[in-house]
Amino acid sequence: RVLILDFGSQVTQLIARRVREAGVYCEIHPYAMTAERIRAFAPKAVILSGGPASVLEPGAPRADDAVFTLGVPVLGICYGQQTMCHQLGGTVSASEHKEFGRAYLEVKEPCALFDGLWVVGAREQVWMSHGDRVTELPPGFRVVATSEGAPFAVCADEARQFYGTMFHPEVVHTTHGAQLLANFVHRVAGCTSDWTMAAFREAAIARIREQVGKERVICGLSGGVDSSVAAVLIHEAIGDQLTCIFVDTGLMRAGESEEVVSLFRNHYNIPLVHRNAADLFLGKLAGVTDPETKRKIIGATFIDVFDEEAHKVGGAGFLAQGTLYPDVIESVSFTGGPSVTIKSHHNVGGLPERMKLKLVEPLRELFKDEVRALGRELGLPESFVKRHPFPGPGLAIRIPGDITPEKLEILRKADTIYLEEIRNAGLYDAIWQAFAVLLPVRTVGVMGDGRTYDHVLALRAVTSTDGMTADWYHFPHEFLARVSNRIVNEVRGVNRVVYDITSKPPGTIEWE
Ligand code: XMP
Repeated sequence: RVLILDFGSQVTQLIARRVREAGVYCEIHPYAMTAERIRAFAPKAVILSGGPASVLEPGAPRADDAVFTLGVPVLGICYGQQTMCHQLGGTVSASEHKEFGRAYLEVKEPCALFDGLWVVGAREQVWMSHGDRVTELPPGFRVVATSEGAPFAVCADEARQFYGTMFHPEVVHTTHGAQLLANFVHRVAGCTSDWTMAAFREAAIARIREQVGKERVICGLSGGVDSSVAAVLIHEAIGDQLTCIFVDTGLMRAGESEEVVSLFRNHYNIPLVHRNAADLFLGKLAGVTDPETKRKIIGATFIDVFDEEAHKVGGAGFLAQGTLYPDVIESVSFTGGPSVTIKSHHNVGGLPERMKLKLVEPLRELFKDEVRALGRELGLPESFVKRHPFPGPGLAIRIPGDITPEKLEILRKADTIYLEEIRNAGLYDAIWQAFAVLLPVRTVGVMGDGRTYDHVLALRAVTSTDGMTADWYHFPHEFLARVSNRIVNEVRGVNRVVYDITSKPPGTIEWE
């Protein structure tokens, strides 16, 4: 396995994704990982990430020198290259010529990193982002590629198998970056491609059995990919020692509750408690208009109902959660200070504490893409695995203002038409998330010979990779025309449709 030491780059997770795509297991740890822990990890190779610091500043972050005496290959990327060169006796200087964005690499000498990929003389597009640069190499290193702004764009000490790149091979803008990283882990470090979801499934099942023993496990299903995959995996490991609880908030999309129940009960035969709590949730939400209050009510009610159902099941020792790797990585931040809460996403935060249960989190090592691949491996239908994300508070945050059963009904109908048209147009997978929002605004319209005075419906569709930033999706106008027509004609209560063309930032994806 490969160790990635994080120096705080925005894209460190991409390094891990690329290494795993090459079939090699890796973990991200903070750069300050101690020599003892590094040795205990026993990496077959180490990658030093980029980062925002400058090695020229006093107290600049550095890797423990143990990294360079383990006898394993090391790849330093951007800041990682600079600290490696600095720590091994080279010189780094502030540069007049800062390089950001696209640059062209010129391959000067053969190097194991380039095997089967680049030949001497090749010109390759890479992505740079640096202020400082290496100006004098440590003993044993030579330059194998240059760029206009970076005479030491790639340096190598092949005897010790130390490599440094000034650019970011992990980002897609570096045309052959993924292959370069694959070369490092396969050809240089000799790692084999044994990180597959089939292998993970076997190992995870053994681990779950060992952790849980004969105890009972309960798992909250949300209808989303993560909790579903976790449940199916755990069921495969311990069978009917698992009980799933599906708290139906009455805030799901049309047909979604039925789909979850039928998938788990009929297809997988997993014991499932389906608690229809729509009246309870809608009762508590009646008249509430503030978005954060809605979230808090839904979160608290969910925990109450879940707890009640869990007690009825009785005797559980473990609570299963679909926690993913990005939630687990200890992040390295140099900005400091608390960040502002834009929205509280912790729908069910507080559940484990309240319930005093041990946690079983079989997806803790996985990225979202890997969870999807594991879902396929476990036979979950493709339509389920590829689902767009859906927020815990559901349709409640897609109805600005107060929520009533009538409004929910209107929104469900419109949302169904919108998603149906997206699927029919073959656009579902190109979009990260698409949904309708029922606005608390009525406008005048004319239908037939009559005047109408009905709701405005907003359509939203975005592309994104992680939900942190997003762009609105550029639908063909004909598509928007068709959807608008169908909704106004088929959904009573809506007489006007608008399309949201705001990116994130400055907008957020949801309207509340
Ligand atoms: P925003 O609206 O913050 O959304 O740009 C980013 C992603 O998070 C989802 N979202 C939520 N998910 N509970 C959730 O589980 C919430 O309260 C919540 N609010 C937003 C949103 O759907 C998008 O995928």
